[in-house]
Amino acid sequence: MTKIAVTKSSLKNLKSDLLVMPFGVRELKKEAAKSFEAFGLDKNALKDFKGNAGDSLLLYSGGSKLKSSKILLLGLGEVSGTEDIRKAASSVAHEIASRQVQTLVFDGSSITAWAGKIKGTTASVAELLVDTILYGTYRFDQLKSGKLEKKKAGEKEKKSRLSELKIRVNAGSLKPAAAGAESGRVIAEARNLARDLVNLPGNLLNAEELADAARKSADKSGCRVTVFEKEEIEELGMGGLVAVNKGSAKPPTFTILDYEPASAPQATVALVGKGVTFDSGGISLKPANGMDDMKSDMAGAAAVIGAVEAAALLELPLRIIGFIPATDNMPGGSAQKPGDVITTYSGITAEVGNTDAEGRLILADALAYAVKHYKPDAVIDLATLTGACIVALGYSVAGLFSNNDMLAGEIYEAGQRSGEKVWRMPVWDEYDDLIKSEVADVHNTGGKGAGAITAARFLEKFIDGHTRWAHIDIAGPSYSAKGGKHLQGGTGFGVRLLIDLLRDWK
Ligand code: BES
Ligand code: MN
Ligand code: ZN
Repeated sequence: MTKIAVTKSSLKNLKSDLLVMPFGVRELKKEAAKSFEAFGLDKNALKDFKGNAGDSLLLYSGGSKLKSSKILLLGLGEVSGTEDIRKAASSVAHEIASRQVQTLVFDGSSITAWAGKIKGTTASVAELLVDTILYGTYRFDQLKSGKLEKKKAGEKEKKSRLSELKIRVNAGSLKPAAAGAESGRVIAEARNLARDLVNLPGNLLNAEELADAARKSADKSGCRVTVFEKEEIEELGMGGLVAVNKGSAKPPTFTILDYEPASAPQATVALVGKGVTFDSGGISLKPANGMDDMKSDMAGAAAVIGAVEAAALLELPLRIIGFIPATDNMPGGSAQKPGDVITTYSGITAEVGNTDAEGRLILADALAYAVKHYKPDAVIDLATLTGACIVALGYSVAGLFSNNDMLAGEIYEAGQRSGEKVWRMPVWDEYDDLIKSEVADVHNTGGKGAGAITAARFLEKFIDGHTRWAHIDIAGPSYSAKGGKHLQGGTGFGVRLLIDLLRDWK
């Protein structure tokens, strides 16, 4: 775990593997030259540096007055918005990861000036810096034993990750910067927890283990946790979760994470996350190619666990309840079959035309349960629900579906602020024709067109007329496949989006 500190010590007295000196394009001309002179650094380096957001230039400090061995000149561009700072911090993270930096000092002497330029606060900039750096240095290496790695003579352990991140600020900015750094750490840890859960393969994270992860998170954040086991799930009549679980050798779980603030909550928000720990498709088996990526089919659940954890640790003034129906979706002699008709928790019956449309079946139970027992002011579900959503929006944007324009607008705005973007699609009555069933109340697939929408329309049947519901289809942005330009694996998408939304709750 990285230790985070905010200090007002002079840069000359701070020792580290890497000292980051950030400048906006405008500041580069005057101020950088001044600092370089004061520290005895070679000013020629400045000729080679443009200072666009995310640009960086590595220098060696030999002969200067600085104690850090390397210097990273970092561009902040025009400092015109959070995106410039995010880009710059990402490139620091990249440098840390590729150069095995263990201790880092970031010169935030101008942090309050940057905050002014982007119309933020000192705390929000410190938060963004710490969050982005910790997020960017994440690696999923818990399953690597290191046994096959060749060790150089004299080398003992495999090199550890960033152990210390210090931000240097002026005395007047110390307090807000420290508060922002702390919330940045909380948020990054919650996002990285979600990534760990997504990255764990199906044999190491089944429904019970996902429930254990929720318990562990609740321990850390101090929320209440309830886990329904298979027998209770059956007794409750959660026919969707039971049906999807039928082919599995492992029992399902239904987990409730309940965060209540110290004083009367401003609102109660239910967050529901799809927790399919592995989706083979069931009897409607998926093709082999890419099936391994379906270990990520619990990314909605992971985002909910992360968001509830961060919300609790940030002590948001809302009651936030996470609901996680979990199982894998497997074929087998006892698996549900195409054509089966099931009775969900709400009593609504569904014809299972395709066992690979399983997410909506377990969400149907969870949504109905959340609405019935908790009377939330708003219900938001996150799910890796459809390939069709990827066809529509690609891999970096999530689909947003809602019956409430205000809520949809707020989620859209939170997406723009957080960088985890969503784009709205309709859930109009017209789509009902596509999910009509001859034998049951509703059909779990909608045929060729509008696959992401018919899935959303299916979910809407189970909220019992609730007027403030949103569904976020994160099939695309929750996971980066091999060979892309991003780090392969879980992205934690949704945590930052939800925190941004909940913090600014109206
Ligand atoms: N988990 C998948 C959706 C998915 C696909 C997520 C690709 C991430 C990447 C979901 O359970 C599913 O299989 N959906 C089907 C629905 C269809 C059978 C109506 C799909 O999208 O093909
Ligand atoms: Mn499926
Ligand atoms: Zn699925």
